[in-house]
Amino acid sequence: MTTMQTDAWGYELTAANAQAAAAYRDTMQAYLAFGRDTGARLKAVFGADPAMPMASVLRGCFFNLMGTPALLPKASESHAAACRHASECTDRERLHIEALGAWCSGELERAADGWETVLLAYPHDMLALKLAAYLHFYLGDAASVRDCVARVLPQWEPSLPGYGYLLGMHAFGLEECGDYVQAERQGRRAVEMNPGDAWAVHAVAHVMEMQDRREEGIAWITGLQPHWEACNNFRYHLVWHRALMHLALGQHDEVLRLYDESLFDPQSEEYLDLCNDISLLARLEMAGVDVGERWQVLSPKVAHQRSGRVLAFVDAHYVLATMAAEGACAAAYLVEDLERCGQQGQGTTARVTREVGLALAEAIVAYRRGDHAACVDRLWPIRRRLFRLGGSHAQRDLFMQMLIDAAIRAGREAVACALLAERLALRPANRWGLEALDVLGAGSGR
Ligand SMILES: [Fe+2]
Repeated sequence: MTTMQTDAWGYELTAANAQAAAAYRDTMQAYLAFGRDTGARLKAVFGADPAMPMASVLRGCFFNLMGTPALLPKASESHAAACRHASECTDRERLHIEALGAWCSGELERAADGWETVLLAYPHDMLALKLAAYLHFYLGDAASVRDCVARVLPQWEPSLPGYGYLLGMHAFGLEECGDYVQAERQGRRAVEMNPGDAWAVHAVAHVMEMQDRREEGIAWITGLQPHWEACNNFRYHLVWHRALMHLALGQHDEVLRLYDESLFDPQSEEYLDLCNDISLLARLEMAGVDVGERWQVLSPKVAHQRSGRVLAFVDAHYVLATMAAEGACAAAYLVEDLERCGQQGQGTTARVTREVGLALAEAIVAYRRGDHAACVDRLWPIRRRLFRLGGSHAQRDLFMQMLIDAAIRAGREAVACALLAERLALRPANRWGLEALDVLGAGSGR
């Protein structure tokens, strides 16, 4: 027996009782706030109504969002549970179920389109917006990360729940499109409305990263830390951003301290946490810092997570960590799996692996092996398409740094010079680029 309830934005929710709908609204609030209790709140929804379709949708999405191969079957089970009640659902709920189904099939573009369809008819559907933005992000479609928010923004009143979160999402999309002035304005507005909006804090941190405003960025992140440190694992990503800024200042001991005390979580195997750790260790090594046994400590977690091809962006990080901790044999095994995925796999990740993921993996292996010329040969032709991996400019910059470093070490001066010129034209105060230019000048006798 179902009754019609509503979500926080007034849209109809199919639920057995008002208690389930209230718990669903609490879950959405916790999800938007990166609350550590989000899972517990979702359990409360199922406690009140084990068959609530949107609760199954939410559970399926949460499993997919974790990016863990072992959890993908659970996402599909949740989708199947939602499907069993599709006939009792509203049109909006059925669209959510369809989009989740596309995601569970690995068709990220179709899933993103599905949530965009929800937004055309239901522009206040915050769940559809969050999921569309997430998928656009991992599809490397920065304009859509920005525009999925821009399209609905005129239809939102500031009094609607989550309006500040909407501004924070818009800020991040603007930043990824290089519109740093508008991005910072929107991000700061969101933080003024809610200093605990970790995504908005993050969007402004990205602006500062891309503009090489290092000291200001550290002050921004640490100044707001009392508000974001209660967040779930996303807080580690803010620490990662802070660590990048210390790294750019040459404060290597502080970066290692942050890694040990605030970034590396022995309990976590979430993909974003692993990517943060891997990326920072690789950048430290590129700066000539001895990272000790940290790759080996990270290694079992990577070994546990690398069995399934969830996102090509994440796979590239796992190849890097595998090569660093276990060496060429283990990495070759993983690269072969990527090759198989590219040749035989279906869905978005297989396509991206075919287009850029495999070549990037081979470039990473070559770089770590010391074959810098081979790294350049693999990475140079795909450098303009690395955005297809998804992730942010700041995250993918690791691979551009690797390419420039490999070109310098391989004596490919023309390539290194061209890439540094392009980098410094956009980021004239970029310390990494200026130092690389010095190395290049010294090496070529200039
Ligand atoms: Fe970020």
